[in-house]
Amino acid sequence: MTARQWLRRTRVRLTLTYVAAFGALAIVAGAAFWLVFAQAQYATVDQALTAQARVIGAGINVDNGQVTFGGDVPLPGETTHGIAVTALLVSRRGTILDQSGETQGPTGLARAALRIRPLDTPVNLSLGGRPDRVLVLPVAGSRAVLVLARPITELEDTLTQTALLLVASVLALIAGAAALGYWVAGRALRPVRVMAATVRDISEHDLGRRVGLDLPPGDELGELSATFDAMLSRLETAFDTLRRFTADAAHELRAPLTLMRSQLEVTLRRERSAEEYRASHDVLRAELDRLSRTAEQLLLLARADSGSLRPRHVRIDVDDFVQEVSSRWQPLAGRHRLRLESDGATEGVLVGDPDLLRRCLDNLLDNALRHTPAGGTVAVSVAGQGPWWVLSVADSGPGVDPVVRATLFERFTRADPARTRSGGGAGLGLSLCRAIARAHGGDVTLLESASGAHFAVQLPRPNGAAISAERARPGP
Ligand SMILES: Nc1ncnc2c1ncn2[C@@H]1O[C@H](COP(=O)(O)OP(=O)(O)OP(=O)(O)O)[C@@H](O)[C@H]1O
Ligand SMILES: [Mg+2]
Repeated sequence: MTARQWLRRTRVRLTLTYVAAFGALAIVAGAAFWLVFAQAQYATVDQALTAQARVIGAGINVDNGQVTFGGDVPLPGETTHGIAVTALLVSRRGTILDQSGETQGPTGLARAALRIRPLDTPVNLSLGGRPDRVLVLPVAGSRAVLVLARPITELEDTLTQTALLLVASVLALIAGAAALGYWVAGRALRPVRVMAATVRDISEHDLGRRVGLDLPPGDELGELSATFDAMLSRLETAFDTLRRFTADAAHELRAPLTLMRSQLEVTLRRERSAEEYRASHDVLRAELDRLSRTAEQLLLLARADSGSLRPRHVRIDVDDFVQEVSSRWQPLAGRHRLRLESDGATEGVLVGDPDLLRRCLDNLLDNALRHTPAGGTVAVSVAGQGPWWVLSVADSGPGVDPVVRATLFERFTRADPARTRSGGGAGLGLSLCRAIARAHGGDVTLLESASGAHFAVQLPRPNGAAISAERARPGP
């Protein structure tokens, strides 16, 4: 990992943000402390200097233009802490009129002191490399000034040492905060690493694994982990469905092939009459029909899955459509001794793909005819319900087996678990019907009915609500 990549890590970025905020606070607090401390130190020095100035000032003699310290008050040569104090009386032109104590370079001090403004306020002066605190006061009754100076080397040293100590403390605090922040960020992000590692390890063979982090309710990362788990569950279901679908599809395609092969083998075992060959070919053709029907259904379902099942947008007269479909099934209904009723009295137009919709209704009718015992009735009808057209196929048969109800519209669902194909298909019809209805913006449902099965195909009605007109608009 390069330094740049390392810096981009969330853990590092979190730590750096935290350290920057903490560091700024620590620096501000350290600087404020130092300023208050320095002010307090200077205040002590200045108080002593002012007190001394007051004592010395009281003893100054102004006599006939002569300004001297006089002898009444002993001049303090040093502060109470034993630090030497220099007192000067300086004329307006910078001439030293009188002086006391151990004075270092009094001329320089006198000249520098004359430039100090305002009077009465102690200031720092550095003469010959030595820092001094200097107070200049006017002398009453004269134009001379009293200059009082004391070295502050110790005070400056104390302040420098305090500053160094503060800088060291702030740096140590920042380093500690960085270490703590890095550790805390690492701990907080650990669930993310666990999640990443688990999800990275999961292959299509162990989709049953879950991240399953035990985090308190409401925790953001707990939510993320639950979201991952939910996604894994969906993937697992999707993979299972896909596996089952592939296995079922293979089975459905293999069964007629096996049957055809054995039919051929039996037929070819010896010479047959033309009659026998014809009968055998009829069996083969029926199996081929079944095979190609299943293959075609699978293809359509695959197209529906990939979203490429795009119905044409043709205006269909609903009445004609229902009549046309039911009349095609009339002969078969007759053969099964069933009454096929069609109720298409509704006038109106449906926009959709007639081939696909026919396929959907054909499957419903095929089911109804197969499941209704002789003497029964199958009814096809169409009715407008608000923004929808509802095409119904109802029969008087035994109704849908409760065992298959829950998965009725799933692929390869059929009541006969042995998958004997006597009279039944692969169990793809209803799922295809639903895929077609949904591709039209509608759906197909099994309605509750007292007797028999009642399927309803709901399709958008172009002149109904705005939404249905929108859906029915021809595509690009
Ligand atoms: N009208 C009905 N009455 C009773 N059961 C029905 C009816 N229609 C469907 N079913 C049940 O639903 C199952 C699924 O129907 P679907 O049309 O999807 O498959 P299929 O008819 O068995 O095969 P395919 O349609 O692929 O030829 C049927 O096997 C049957 O058990
Ligand atoms: Mg069917």
